[in-house]
Amino acid sequence: MSIFENLSGKLALVTGAAGPTGLAIARVLAGHGMRVILADLDGDRLERLSSENSAQLIPMVMDVRLPDLVEQALGKVQEQHGAVNVLVNNAGILSNAKAAETTPDEWRRVMAANIDGPFYLSRLCLPAMKAARWGRIINMCSLAMKTGGLTAGTAYTTSKGALGALTFSLARESASDGVTVNGIAPAYINTPMVTQQLSQAEQARILASIPVQRFCEPEEVAHLVAYLATPMAGFITGEIIDINGGLHLD
Ligand SMILES: NC(=O)c1ccc[n+]([C@@H]2O[C@H](COP(=O)([O-])OP(=O)(O)OC[C@H]3O[C@@H](n4cnc5c(N)ncnc54)[C@H](O)[C@@H]3O)[C@@H](O)[C@H]2O)c1
Repeated sequence: MSIFENLSGKLALVTGAAGPTGLAIARVLAGHGMRVILADLDGDRLERLSSENSAQLIPMVMDVRLPDLVEQALGKVQEQHGAVNVLVNNAGILSNAKAAETTPDEWRRVMAANIDGPFYLSRLCLPAMKAARWGRIINMCSLAMKTGGLTAGTAYTTSKGALGALTFSLARESASDGVTVNGIAPAYINTPMVTQQLSQAEQARILASIPVQRFCEPEEVAHLVAYLATPMAGFITGEIIDINGGLHLD
């Protein structure tokens, strides 16, 4: 029996699902028979994905920064599709600005998307997961939290560190209720965050420092998420799993 069989029919909510990593995660989970809410603030891109929409892939415009709207959206999800069994907090925004160039507005913008949103969604999803005595929360952290940000800026690096701490805190409070909470710390996924937000020179310099000698593909992250969602990963909680091609070893 496949370790993924148990996922069939369960409900996942993936934020940032109009982006390449979130979309890869949604497709892989749907491939294992899950129903997946594709949550993103970019309604146009969700619309463009609509040809893929099926009973399994359900688009939903959601801005994770806004607690009242997140609560409304979650209420709608629960009413129409049932409780969320697997929450993937993948939505995030990058800022490469270092401290002196990070304005208070930039700081708040990054924190709102990268740490406020995962907190709002986790606190709303956890009660039903605990009541069912089964659930998974998977937070998309970043290598930046461990390195101080090789190219990433101060707000981004700090937000991902906070997301790691949220992972630890939720994992500790939820383990005895059958809910695991883990993080993934990717480095340099082959997405616009790398291909558009870093210069050619920066990309070449980074590639030269990755022992595996390439960027990570979104699908590689997606399959790791799927594994963490399985019952077989039930003894892993409060862990931040590296996926960085050997760039950082700890
Ligand atoms: N690309 C990388 O190299 C890399 C490395 C480490 C970590 N990460 C993390 O992985 C995640 C996905 O990265 P990606 O490269 O696919 O990013 P991306 O920018 O391509 O996609 C992110 C998606 O999140 C959505 N989003 C942003 N703010 C939102 C909000 N407030 N509410 C709802 N949706 C929102 C965007 O519309 C977009 O569709 C992010 O959290 C990122 O920080 C990426």
